[in-house]
Amino acid sequence: MAKGIFIVGTDTDVGKTVITGGLMYLLRSGGYNACYFKPVLSGAMVEKEQLVPGDTRFIKGISGLEEEYRHITPYSFKTPVSPHLASRIEKKPIDINVIKEKFKYIKNKYKYIIAEGSGGLCVPLNDEGYMLYHLVQELGMTVIVVARAGLGTINHTVLTVRYAQSIGIEVKGIIINGYTQSSLCADDNIETVKKLTKVPIIGVIPRLDGVDVEKLQFGNLKEEFEKRIKTQDLIELMDEI
Ligand SMILES: Nc1ncnc2c1ncn2[C@@H]1O[C@H](COP(=O)(O)OP(=O)(O)O)[C@@H](O)[C@H]1O
Ligand SMILES: [Mg+2]
Repeated sequence: MAKGIFIVGTDTDVGKTVITGGLMYLLRSGGYNACYFKPVLSGAMVEKEQLVPGDTRFIKGISGLEEEYRHITPYSFKTPVSPHLASRIEKKPIDINVIKEKFKYIKNKYKYIIAEGSGGLCVPLNDEGYMLYHLVQELGMTVIVVARAGLGTINHTVLTVRYAQSIGIEVKGIIINGYTQSSLCADDNIETVKKLTKVPIIGVIPRLDGVDVEKLQFGNLKEEFEKRIKTQDLIELMDEI
């Protein structure tokens, strides 16, 4: 039986890929047979006339995962917009059954799976109203919410956590990303999110120099994760899938 967790953001660009990269690095460098899954990616790069999913390339690079893009990122779109629109523009419909088949394939091959969403929970994957949260529900996964550190994060994070819970998705933890320096606002954000959601804050990750998903730069991401998150704690909060 495999164990998994789905990483959802409070928004796009909050650092889901950076955080997932740190977590995947912890698992794989610790000898765990772990795989990444990014069902739908918009804004893929083009290299030698091939679509390259940047998030997936970053995770493979930092964690040493060697799996073919087509198995772990079944849908890549060049257009950097919501999946439903990218799919419509590029005339490439997203078949949820294909995503489920790929998920089944990696579930049989790996012991641990960390999935990464596109944007936030309420992102449509098609024009018929199939949302990212439907996929999380149908894959039977629990989630970690990645949230920004600064102003605005209380509203985004509490909305995301409470909405997930209201539709039966369990939130196992919150990771605050991009913390710059101690300030009344940044520190109170963490305390207030903790108090209002009653969900554990499992990590606070600083803004790091030299980390860039698109340029495939890892900076000190590995060292920061080794310092701030215990691999065993991550394993314990992953649920059977
Ligand atoms: N902790 C961090 N330190 C430095 N740069 C970061 C950090 N988190 C995210 N970034 C940068 O911000 C951008 C968006 O992050 P990314 O992980 O791709 O977001 P998401 O996956 O949520 O869209 C990327 O260029 C990434 O390199
Ligand atoms: Mg991403």
